[in-house]
Amino acid sequence: MFRQPQGAASGSQLHAAQDFAPALKRLAILGSTGSIGQSTLSIVDQFPERYSVASLAAGRNVDEACRQAVRWRPKMVSMASEELAGQLAGRLRQAGVTGVDVVHGTAGTVACSTLAEADFVVSAIVGVAGLEATHAAIVAGKPVGLANKECMVAAGEILTAAARERNVPVLPIDSEHNAVHQCMRVGAHAEVKTIWLTASGGPFRQYPLEKFESITPEQALKHPTWVMGRRITIDSATMLNKGLEIIEACRLFDVPPAQVRVTVHPQSTVHSLVEYVDGSILAQISVTDMRVPILYALAYPERPASTLTFDLAALRHLDFEQPDFARFPCLRLAYEAAEKGGAHCIALNAADEVAVEAFLQGGIPFMGIPRTIEAVLASTPEAHPSTIAEVLAADRKAREAARALLA
Ligand SMILES: NC(=O)c1ccc[n+]([C@@H]2O[C@H](COP(=O)([O-])OP(=O)(O)OC[C@H]3O[C@@H](n4cnc5c(N)ncnc54)[C@H](OP(=O)(O)O)[C@@H]3O)[C@@H](O)[C@H]2O)c1
Repeated sequence: MFRQPQGAASGSQLHAAQDFAPALKRLAILGSTGSIGQSTLSIVDQFPERYSVASLAAGRNVDEACRQAVRWRPKMVSMASEELAGQLAGRLRQAGVTGVDVVHGTAGTVACSTLAEADFVVSAIVGVAGLEATHAAIVAGKPVGLANKECMVAAGEILTAAARERNVPVLPIDSEHNAVHQCMRVGAHAEVKTIWLTASGGPFRQYPLEKFESITPEQALKHPTWVMGRRITIDSATMLNKGLEIIEACRLFDVPPAQVRVTVHPQSTVHSLVEYVDGSILAQISVTDMRVPILYALAYPERPASTLTFDLAALRHLDFEQPDFARFPCLRLAYEAAEKGGAHCIALNAADEVAVEAFLQGGIPFMGIPRTIEAVLASTPEAHPSTIAEVLAADRKAREAARALLA
């Protein structure tokens, strides 16, 4: 039986005191074919006595979804479309695999996240495509390990309210928020002065500003410290990723934007810090491997022994710098959206997703990403959607505005 440490700062109501740790945790993995999804499956592989796979939700990668279904024999697999689901079902029949229900679309991801046999949901679909399934999981009372920051940015107010109402834990997998969660276990929420999110600074921290306009997708896809999916890698290069994380932190830890600050830390060794009112600053250090925060979220409040050790003797120095808001206007845009909340946070994420895709396809220059976001934010009216349907409508509107600008 898990008991919340008394007065712990992580008591942002998202980490409720309840018994949610069955002997064997059966996982619903949303985004199983992606970077986080595959890292999660490698943990299942490593800890077969602790975790098994109940359901998998993928997008378009039929080859990987098929491989995973054959290996893990889940009860259910979802693909993004009916056609892809048909392809997967055919491949499983050929392979002689029975007993796997193949579903598709949003209804399919929701069915995976609310499956009766699933005890814990890993939310790792990229973008708002994962929103309905994440919300449905919380409403169904399933604890969630949250990697999908976009859904917390777009609908954080709704998701956190649903989690509080039902006493459902939402455990951050994003490495920075996971670090903050760990640092907040030792103090009271009211004693927190500042949450410091670390940022690697991406590949262009010291790149000449006058050359930013001509940065290519190939250059931007080379992250100095992390291997991740394409969108988050570009978002790290513009630092919009850190902007999304500021909003995610406000929502997960129930603090205003002014209490969340960014420090550039090129080594990506300290994953984030929490400064307390008495002057103490707590930091979390581990290898730059997403399996550390994933395992923490899956096992919380326990800490299973793992081989993911950090070589402290090899540590030479830790650098921390102020972020450069002129170089990375996305940070300023994110703070402005965080202050306004609601539709502005939705538009920040939606406009970025459209602009990043356009950049990757060679349609706009690198600095076209913040310019598109700024223009969409300027045309976004202040509003606070109160349902997932309203969030998705605001998201569609912002995407249309971004596409119209880019056309
Ligand atoms: N990677 C990291 O280190 C990291 C760190 C912190 C937070 N995150 C967050 O975690 C999330 C996942 O990131 P990632 O790097 O793992 O991304 P990724 O490698 O691009 O994987 C994205 C996953 O989402 C699936 N997907 C996309 N559209 C879908 C749809 N319409 N329906 C169902 N599934 C869909 C993809 O399926 P297919 O591949 O089959 O199309 C894939 O499984 C993002 O929100 C990201 O910001 C990632």
